[in-house]
Amino acid sequence: MKLVFIGPPGAGKGTQAERICADNSIKQLSTGDILRHNVKIESKLGVGAKEYMTSGRLVPDELIIEMIKEELKSLEYANGFLLDGFPRTIPQAQAFDELLKKLNTKIDLVLLLDVPDEEIISRLSGRRICRTCNRVFHISFNPPPDPKDCDRGICDIYQRDDDKEETVRHRLDVYHNQTKPLVDYYKSQNLVAYIDGIGSLDEVYDRIKSNLQHKFK
Ligand code: AP5
Repeated sequence: MKLVFIGPPGAGKGTQAERICADNSIKQLSTGDILRHNVKIESKLGVGAKEYMTSGRLVPDELIIEMIKEELKSLEYANGFLLDGFPRTIPQAQAFDELLKKLNTKIDLVLLLDVPDEEIISRLSGRRICRTCNRVFHISFNPPPDPKDCDRGICDIYQRDDDKEETVRHRLDVYHNQTKPLVDYYKSQNLVAYIDGIGSLDEVYDRIKSNLQHKFK
């Protein structure tokens, strides 16, 4: 199962990816998570990416494509993967197609998770993340556990720097201008499954599941 997740910032890609990967024994590859890790450890990639990320701009394609090439060498992806946050531009998608050709494989399905802009603003202002286990929460819709009850260690909850409203609005512009053209790119390859991202976490997951069942029956 080789999947790509496309959707605006805050659509719920990371939240749903965790369940999809656990239920299908495939590996999640989140470019945002890898970049944030590199910023934290102050690697060369992290130092180069930090300013773009904080201001809500995309990190240059060359850096991202190199990062993906390195990452996909890991055997952990051999059973399948869900790409969360990549590709995000047409040049990234073209470079990825080249890479897949060399690896003699292809994408099975592109999940397009759609959520209107105003809902995104509300979701991201309430988003909280755990530094210890990377799980994503929302102060109203999916509240973080009390630190002492965290089943994966002590939760250390924080808010992302790029979740301020002004930065989120800029990220949405970037999505509409640079990432949305990928929908037509993948539609022309007959790969896109549209998922309505409005509803409870379970409702959205059920929609994803039925698309996967249809594709992989
Ligand atoms: P990245 O980390 O990929 O951010 P993003 O795409 O903007 O996506 P998010 O992580 O913000 O949202 P999500 O869709 O995963 O939503 P979540 O599940 O958390 O990228 C960050 C930055 O890195 C970019 O701006 C860029 O600078 C750089 N970057 C990354 N990849 C790149 C690339 N390929 N090229 C260039 N630059 C790149 O959910 C959001 C909130 O909503 C949570 O609080 C959640 O609990 C809540 N929620 C989820 N589902 C629901 C629901 N159904 N109802 C109510 N609330 C819900």
